[in-house]
Amino acid sequence: KLMLLGEHAVVYGRPCLVTAVDIRYQVTAGEKTGEYIYIESSVADRASDPYKINVVDLLESKQEFPKEVRFVTAAIFQVYKKHKLNAGLYIKTSGPTTSFGLGSSSAVTVSTVAALDALFNLELSQQDIFELSYAAVLDIQGKGSGFDVAAAVFGGTLYYVMAGKVIESLEIDQLPIVIGYTGEKVGTVSLIKEVELERKRLLEKAGFDLEFVYDSIEKLVNTARICILDKNWVDLGELININQSLLRILSPKVSPQRLEIPINAALEAGALGAKLSGAGGGDCMFALTTTQARDNLSRAIERSGAEIVNIMPNAIGVTLI
Ligand code: PMV
Repeated sequence: KLMLLGEHAVVYGRPCLVTAVDIRYQVTAGEKTGEYIYIESSVADRASDPYKINVVDLLESKQEFPKEVRFVTAAIFQVYKKHKLNAGLYIKTSGPTTSFGLGSSSAVTVSTVAALDALFNLELSQQDIFELSYAAVLDIQGKGSGFDVAAAVFGGTLYYVMAGKVIESLEIDQLPIVIGYTGEKVGTVSLIKEVELERKRLLEKAGFDLEFVYDSIEKLVNTARICILDKNWVDLGELININQSLLRILSPKVSPQRLEIPINAALEAGALGAKLSGAGGGDCMFALTTTQARDNLSRAIERSGAEIVNIMPNAIGVTLI
């Protein structure tokens, strides 16, 4: 997924706009006799024996699992608990070793739920897959709006409200953007906490509430939704720039120089708008571009130190193959 507009505000109940990208992960599932679940991860760049867990241990103990199988085990836990399953299992995950912070955890979680749905004929709807996957992600992260899970389930470009209260697919056929990767960040949950702390600090110290930032982002996202549907790229560019300015207010940690530099380089090279995407601190920025400016803009982003991520937005969501 690529967050287009509304990050951080979405955690406070405001809407956001997100697009699914075509970096794909595969999960294969098969039933196995016995009481063990085996998880083989070829996402991790090393050959190792499959991770083995007893089904009862998975369902009954609150143990922590290693990083490379955390999301898969959380997804299995949610599906097994809800559908009262206890079968032995073999799960294999594969996909690129880096997803540029564009949502590999939610993609693997959603794919695991969808694979179990197919294996056990659970006949889950997209909404069911979303709810089970979101619960699994919350088990691991504790916080998050679920926009990344929605993008992995439904695909396309979505207008989204926290916890899936609204999930609207926008019928569009293009989104003219260039994506730049700036390097790994400290972590989404710690940035959410940082923004929360900054807001409290300002309120206590100066009696000033940042609520207006969230209100403005909400208005801006609602207007941007219409711009996207109308292909009004010029106005969308303005809104992208305003969203970036509002994000800067939340905390200096949200938009550090490693994001500011490629964002400014893109604007100088003729972008209609440019901003960070996601929690900030690193990961990706994107620029909205005209057809004429695209090559020049990509070169400018690259020269500024970011890596161009050549992927398509508005990609399809989870599918059986
Ligand atoms: O850092 P990312 O790409 O996972 O995006 C996080 C976006 C937030 O709004 C800050 C958190 C959320 O769950 O919506």
